[in-house]
Amino acid sequence: MEELPSLPPVEPFRIKVVEAIHLLPAPEREAALRRAHFNLFNLSSDEIYIDLLTDSGTSAMSDRQWSALMLGDESYAGSRNFRRFEETVRGITGFPYLLPTHQGRAAENIFFSSMVKRGDIIPNNMHFDTTQEHVRRNGAVPMNAVVREAYDSRSEHPFKGNMDTALLEKILRDQKGKVPLVMMTLTNNTGGGQPASLENLREVSALCRKVGVPLYLDMCRWAENAYFIRTREAGMSEHSIREIGKEIFALADGATMSAKKDGLVNIGGFVATRDEKLFERMRELLIVYEGFPTYGGLARRDLEAMAVGLEEAMGLDYLEHRTAQVAYLGHLLETADIPFMHPPGGHGIYLDAGAFLPHLSRENLPGQTLSIELYREGGVRTVEIGGVMFGEGKDLRERLELVRLAIPRRVYTASHLSYVAETVKRVWERRASLRGCRMVSATESLRHFTAHFEPL
Ligand code: F0G
Repeated sequence: MEELPSLPPVEPFRIKVVEAIHLLPAPEREAALRRAHFNLFNLSSDEIYIDLLTDSGTSAMSDRQWSALMLGDESYAGSRNFRRFEETVRGITGFPYLLPTHQGRAAENIFFSSMVKRGDIIPNNMHFDTTQEHVRRNGAVPMNAVVREAYDSRSEHPFKGNMDTALLEKILRDQKGKVPLVMMTLTNNTGGGQPASLENLREVSALCRKVGVPLYLDMCRWAENAYFIRTREAGMSEHSIREIGKEIFALADGATMSAKKDGLVNIGGFVATRDEKLFERMRELLIVYEGFPTYGGLARRDLEAMAVGLEEAMGLDYLEHRTAQVAYLGHLLETADIPFMHPPGGHGIYLDAGAFLPHLSRENLPGQTLSIELYREGGVRTVEIGGVMFGEGKDLRERLELVRLAIPRRVYTASHLSYVAETVKRVWERRASLRGCRMVSATESLRHFTAHFEPL
């Protein structure tokens, strides 16, 4: 078992600007919950004390990024900020063709609309919600083919984001001609922020190349994944994150990226490829949906801040602290035997809501129930990643019922995390009294964002 840090990690930064936060009194939190129809997406941020809803676009930018914003050259076409952004992404990934987008799902839209047709099958270690939706909207079927250990929250497998290569090989054989691409999500967000190993990526790449199917990466959290390769994979401890990145990207044909994660910005993303023809098709769509290819739905200053953030996210001090923060929160929960996805992932702790509330059936929505209760108890906002988010989807295996405590980058300190752990512990102590909830209204797709709930 991985040794979790029992001392709070020291922040490798000092704080220059502060933003006040405030814990509402319990009756006001109760009223807020009711007004939000028990869906935490409907809360106002002023009603939240510690916001662990997402690590996406919630990072604190550095002084260097804020100063980069002042270098914005807001030309419609040919901005110098685009050139710097392009050089940076090419330098990291080696992908020659790239298009900026306003965020990850815009990159997904352009990519999947250009690559996928009705009746296709898309294997992924595990699809994220928006990725899955873009696959479906183009008439294709998303298939998760992650290793079996990903579904066992107690398993200490160091690379639970790995693709099950035997299963992938079978899909590629059985569905010959129907698989236009294979995708690997780094890290596996839906399954706990778990990484894939370089060895596994090599095997997946070899399988794809053998049958002539391109491999694309969802590289949202690639730097965290690379850090785990460095610390957990044999022979990698002397390699820099940039070097590991070079090895990862050399195995792939392109990538989509939400820079709201490992780009350390509040908005931004891109799609990149080695395929010139695909690039040309995507560029047409980009102009319709996002804007001219040298800004893609962003202010040019955002491209500059993204270029700086993409570099900073590869810093070892930064990544060591970030992963230690997550592991430290894991350690605090482990001392109370609270069940969560092991080992701690790259961007958050994922409580195993099924094991936390074993007396609730899946229909009583244990994940949603737990996330409501964490807000009620301590004003902590989290997100359900389970039956509400993914429904009865076509998972090849089982379903996970998790509550994600996503840690925004460079935002909270170790004492915030201690407070979060105390909040979880207080709910844990009275878990037997929780009765569950039900969904009273929901949309057809991506229902977790807008559904209404009612306590039982
Ligand atoms: N892919 C993965 C693996 C993601 O985690 C996300 C976003 C996206 C694609 C889409 O990127 O938000 O920039 O459009 N994940 C956020 C989350 C929303 O909370 O995990 P986006």
